Amino acid sequence: MLNLRLPTIETDQFILRPIQVEDAKDMFEYAGDAENLQFVWFPRHSGPESSKKSIEDFFLTRVDRGIPEAYCVVIKPEMKMIGTVDVHTVRFGDVGEIGYIINKRYWNRGIVSEAVQILISVMFHHCGFSRIEIQHNAENIGSGRVIEKAGFIKEGTYRKRKYEPELGHRSDYHFYAINLDDKIVEERYSKEHYENTIRTKIRP
Ligand SMILES: CC(C)(COP(=O)(O)OP(=O)(O)OC[C@H]1O[C@@H](n2cnc3c(N)ncnc32)[C@H](O)[C@@H]1OP(=O)(O)O)[C@@H](O)C(=O)NCCC(=O)NCCS
Repeated sequence: MLNLRLPTIETDQFILRPIQVEDAKDMFEYAGDAENLQFVWFPRHSGPESSKKSIEDFFLTRVDRGIPEAYCVVIKPEMKMIGTVDVHTVRFGDVGEIGYIINKRYWNRGIVSEAVQILISVMFHHCGFSRIEIQHNAENIGSGRVIEKAGFIKEGTYRKRKYEPELGHRSDYHFYAINLDDKIVEERYSKEHYENTIRTKIRP
């Protein structure tokens, strides 16, 4: 059985905590912006109300659907919710797939890289996943870098997988994973690392 409730974790730059309805206004700032949504699969939100509905229907129903709570990133010192870094799909009981989006005003500060690497440790050592999957549009270079830097192992490419309306053509998707018994887990995401580094950042 997976542990679906997630601890709140604080780093120097941000807090990772489960998303709440009160985050709707901050979510609309990026979910209502076409550039921010270029490579994501949900339609643009029309206003804070539609962000609120998405939080209620899509994010807050996760535990009932057997998926961990959705982490959002709250940036310090503003304490503004600037994006989500979360497990959106669970397959075969112990395989989770990660996705992310961050407000474009905060791109290129290493935020998603740091959050993804924390989430990987939490998924293996708090939730109980055995395998973590991730994929990205081959043209989304930034997302590819986040994935490479986290140590994911490339498993293949779906050719011309999806028509991208913004791009006007079908895009390839690269697919990656980390298995619990991969060497990278021992090197960077071990149980000891979780206990000694991540657990010390847990806040009430
Ligand atoms: C992709 C995304 C999540 C990256 O988040 P981020 O917090 O800016 O990423 P980081 O700062 O951790 O950067 C990771 C690396 O990617 C690089 N990078 C980020 N955006 C880039 C871009 N557009 N082109 C080239 N490199 C890019 C950074 O320079 C960094 O590399 P480095 O450490 O070697 O310098 C963010 O741009 C985003 O939310 N985009 C919109 C939603 C999206 O595409 N989601 C992913 C769907 S698969």
